[in-house]
Amino acid sequence: MKVSVKRDSAFQEFEVPRYPSQTVLDVVTYIQRALDPTLAYRFACRVGMCGSCAMTVNGVARWTCRTHVDKVVENDQMEIAPLRNLPVIRDLVTDMREFFDKWAKAKGQFSGSLTKKDDFQKVKPDSPERVAVDAGIECIGCAVCYSSCDVVSWNPDYLGPAALNRAWTLVKDERDVQSAKRLLAVAGDAGCHSCHTHMSCTERCPKQISPTAAIAGLKREVTRAVLKGTL
Ligand code: SF4
Ligand code: SF4
Ligand code: FES
Repeated sequence: MKVSVKRDSAFQEFEVPRYPSQTVLDVVTYIQRALDPTLAYRFACRVGMCGSCAMTVNGVARWTCRTHVDKVVENDQMEIAPLRNLPVIRDLVTDMREFFDKWAKAKGQFSGSLTKKDDFQKVKPDSPERVAVDAGIECIGCAVCYSSCDVVSWNPDYLGPAALNRAWTLVKDERDVQSAKRLLAVAGDAGCHSCHTHMSCTERCPKQISPTAAIAGLKREVTRAVLKGTL
């Protein structure tokens, strides 16, 4: 198989042997270990947990450790590049700082009111709030959605689908006490109202999360808060 890999200045071609159940991450690892030890890429868990291995494969952002070559190879060729919408540090490694800084800007940290002396706060498993949180909580921070979002490309200040999805899971968390501040943080020009509902984030998310639905929920909550005069 012919594999074109984006290096800092241009694509470089490699010939990589195929084998059953081979993943895209296996291909990149083979290139680095057998063909060119200077190739830079990032991974950690290899089992779809850490979110560090995402790259652009044949033009589409994917988690490479769980993407089989058979699924994406075209005419025995594959093109691998770093994620879009993020600065490149080297080769396939992107700088994730602005991605995670936006989680902080969207107030993506849990803030409760209990102390360690209090009993656990219980949330009913079948409550609508819990169901909404559960739908978005398995995010692994891979930035596949962020890299796939055209609004991020047009407006680098846009908080993006992952940070807004995180904010939504906290807005719906009955134990969190920062919802008003969080709604204010996501209501601005770079927040939920910038989403054009293109759905690329939802189509590409490897964890089947729908940031589009989360952002629609934030828009509703922001509107409700404005009408109530609490925002
Ligand atoms: S739905 Fe919104 S956040 Fe998701 S890709 Fe489209 S514009 Fe971006
Ligand atoms: S929402 Fe999905 S695509 Fe986006 S960072 Fe989380 S797991 Fe990755
Ligand atoms: S290496 Fe951890 S998700 Fe792919």
